[in-house]
Amino acid sequence: MLLGMNKPVNQIIVIFGASGDLTRRKLVPSLYDLFVKNLLPGNFGVLGVSRTSMDDEEFRSRLGGNLPGDGKKEQFLSMLYYHAMETSDSDAYIGLSERLGKLDQSLETGGNFIFYLSTPPSLYEIIPEYLFRAGLAKSEQGFRRLIVEKPFGTSLESARNLNVGLLQYFEESQIFRIDHYLGKETVQNMLVTRFSNGIFEPLWNHNFIHHVEITSAESLGVEGRGGYYDQSGALRDMVQNHLLQLVGFIAMEPPAVLEADAIRNETLKVFQALRPIREEDVERCTIRGQYISSTIKGGKVPGYRQEKGVPEDSRTETFAAIRFYIDNWRWAGVPFYIRTGKKLPTRVTEVVVHFKQVPHHLFSASPDYTPIENQLIIRIQPDEGLLLKIGMKIPGAGFRVRTVNMDFHYSSLADIHLPSAYERLLLDCMQGDATLYTRGDAVEEAWKFIQPVLDAWQSSGNIPVYGYPAGTWGPEISDSLILNGKWRYPCKNLTDDGSYCEL
Ligand code: BG6
Repeated sequence: MLLGMNKPVNQIIVIFGASGDLTRRKLVPSLYDLFVKNLLPGNFGVLGVSRTSMDDEEFRSRLGGNLPGDGKKEQFLSMLYYHAMETSDSDAYIGLSERLGKLDQSLETGGNFIFYLSTPPSLYEIIPEYLFRAGLAKSEQGFRRLIVEKPFGTSLESARNLNVGLLQYFEESQIFRIDHYLGKETVQNMLVTRFSNGIFEPLWNHNFIHHVEITSAESLGVEGRGGYYDQSGALRDMVQNHLLQLVGFIAMEPPAVLEADAIRNETLKVFQALRPIREEDVERCTIRGQYISSTIKGGKVPGYRQEKGVPEDSRTETFAAIRFYIDNWRWAGVPFYIRTGKKLPTRVTEVVVHFKQVPHHLFSASPDYTPIENQLIIRIQPDEGLLLKIGMKIPGAGFRVRTVNMDFHYSSLADIHLPSAYERLLLDCMQGDATLYTRGDAVEEAWKFIQPVLDAWQSSGNIPVYGYPAGTWGPEISDSLILNGKWRYPCKNLTDDGSYCEL
C-alpha cells in the first residue's frame, strides 16, 4: 500500500457510462476533490464515453453544474473530454482508439490509461473484449487498468463466468474491482485500530470475544431503483460484497506487510474459513424481511411492493440478517451476525465487538448489579468514530458499578476532511495500488458462502418473508437470531403503526 499522498504518473481515465448517474454524482466530483488537493497528475484527462451524442463542451457543462463553483472549476473542466460511441459495436473501438491516441499525444500522458466500467453489467464482458481487440488492453509502453463496478455476478456461477471472461482480456493485476466500502476511512481504520494498538489485538479472539455484530441500516428505500433491486435483494446488494469485506477486515490475521496481496491473501483466508450454511440450517440462521407501508411523523410511507418497478407480489428481501461462524483457530465458536435493511429508522453502519464478561462477579452483591458487557463499537458512518463501553464505580459508599462510554468522534479532529470512498479508491488505482480493491478469488469465495442461502430462500416456501413497517428495525423476530442476546439498537423505531406480518 502506498502510504504517501504522491501524485500519480500522467494518465487518462476513460469512463464508460459517462452520461450516467455514478459519473455525475461520484466519479467526477471525486476527481475534482483530488484536483483541488493537487493530487491529480500534472498531465491528466478524463474521456467520458457513452451513446448519448454531445461534444466536449456539453459534457463539461453537464458535469460542472454538480461541482462547487470555486475558482478552480474551469481549469478542472477543461480536462474533461467526451466521445460518443456505441459501446456494444466492436468497430466503434477503432474510433475510440484514434481519439485516445490523439488525446494521449496532446496531453503527453505516456499511453497510461484507466478504463472505468460504469455501465450496466451486461457490458462487462463486451467492453474488455473490444478494448483488447482494438489493442488497448495490453500494458506495453504505458499501463492499462480496468475498474469494474459491482455487481460482480449475481450468483456464484455468474461471478465465476465473469472472472473467466475478464481474465481472457486483462491480467488479474490490471483488474480493479471496486467495493466502495473498502474506500471508507473508518473501514480502513479497522486495520489501524487492530494493528497499531497493543491493547486490542491480544483480546481479538475466541478467548475474549463473545460475539460480533455488524449492522448496516439505511433509512432510505430503493429510491427509484426498484427494477434493479428487485432482481437483487439485500443479500446480494449489501451482504455478499460490502459487509463480507468488512468481516474480512474485522477477522483477518495480521498481514506481515502493508501490501496489496499480503492484505488480500488474509481476507481471502477469512472467506475460505466461513462455515458453509447447510440448506437445512438456512431457516434457523437467517431472517429475511420486506418493508410494508406505515405512517411516519403523520405521513404515509409506501411499502416496498408499492415502489416503482417492483412487482405487487415481490418476495425480494429488503432486510437480511444472518448468523455465521468462521472456522479457524482465532474465531472458533464465536458467532458473527450481520443485519442490513432499507427503510429502517436511521442510517447507521457499525461493528459491535462484544467481549466476554469477567469470570467472577466480585460486585454482584451490590443492589441493582448488572454484569458489565464490554463493547467496542466501531462506527463506520455517519458519526464516524470509536466507542468503548466499560464499567465504572458510581461515586459513594459501596461498590456500585455502571457502564460508561469512552467515545471518540472523527469530527473532533478539527480541519480533517474525510475523503469520499471514491476519491480514495480512484487515487489508489491511479497509483496502481490494489489493496482496497477486491480480488477475483475473494469475490468467488464470498459468493460460495452466500449462494446456499439464496438457493434456500428461492426454493423453500417454508422460509418466511417477514413484513416490517417502514421505519422499524426490521422483522419483530430479529432478536431471536442472536444467541443469548439482542441487537444493539442505536435509536428507537420511528413508527408504532403497521403490523408485523408474514408476506
Ligand atoms: C450500494 C447499494 O452498493 O451501497 C445500495 O447498491 C446501498 O443499495 C449503498 O444503498 C450503501 O452505500 P453507503 O455508502 O451509503 O452505505
